[in-house]
Parts: sequence; structure tokens; C-alpha cells
Amino acid sequence: ATNRTFTMLKPDAVENGHTGAILDKINAAGFRIVALKKTQMTKANAEAFYAVHNERPFFGELVEFMTRGPVVAAILEKDNAVDDFRTLIGATNPADAAEGTIRKLYATSMGENAVHGSDSDENAQIEGNFHFSGREQF
Ligand code: CMP
Repeated sequence: ATNRTFTMLKPDAVENGHTGAILDKINAAGFRIVALKKTQMTKANAEAFYAVHNERPFFGELVEFMTRGPVVAAILEKDNAVDDFRTLIGATNPADAAEGTIRKLYATSMGENAVHGSDSDENAQIEGNFHFSGREQF
């Protein structure tokens, strides 16, 4: 069925000038852009967005990284959006990511891995609503 996922192009990808190339790959893979913006997360925003990871040893590093510069946030729509987007981005660690995936092409490390993709329909909705109001979603 047609459904939605949420993505952020992380500060490393934006800093390195990969925004356009990554949006091109997303478009070429058949995702429709429902919402899109460049935004800078505060420390409080990042801690809330990644609350599920707050007991992990890398939590502080993750929040520091995600607030280092602007991100590009988007809601995307397609058949099987969550799973197909995770296939398009590749494994969390770029060393394990398949050839041609966004992380293989643009990520630098496990932490600085270029792009976020929601892991479930439920989280896609929560994460999309975290960044976009109802009247920003078309
Ligand atoms: P993502 O899966 O999008 O969301 C959680 C993020 O935490 C993950 O991407 C990485 O950016 C980061 N992360 C996961 N594991 C590690 C790790 N071992 N060390 C540093 N950062 C990590």
C-alpha cells in the first residue's frame, strides 16, 4: 500500500554539499516529496527526536553531531515507503552498506551516516509530525 516515511539528510551530508544528489536519488527511486525543509535542530530537539537512544553510549555524540549544522527534513510517499527507503539508504554502518546505496555513496562513518530513515510506519508518523505541521504536509 502507499504510505509514508520520514528522512533527514544529516549535517555531514548537508555540509559536504550532497543535498541535491541525495534528493535526486530519492526522486529517481520513485518517492514523492510530501514535505521538505532545511532546519537546524536545537539540543533539546535532538534529545527529544532520539529519546529512544538516550541510554546508549553514543547518545551524547549523536546529539552533538545532529546539532552541528542544518539538516534537510522530508516526508516521503511511495508504495512500501518505510522498507523501500531503508533499502535505498543501506546499512547503518557505511562499511556494511550495499553498492549504490545512499550511505555507501555519501556516509563517512557509523555515526556520520548521511541520512536517517524511519524504522516503522508508526515512527514515520511521529517523526514527520515532529518536524512538520499538518498544513506543511501535502
Ligand atoms: P540512525 O539509525 O539514523 O539513528 C540512530 C543513529 O545513531 C544512527 O543512525 C547513527 O547516526 C548513530 N549511531 C548508531 N550506532 C552508533 C555507534 N555505534 N556510534 C556512533 N553513532 C551511532
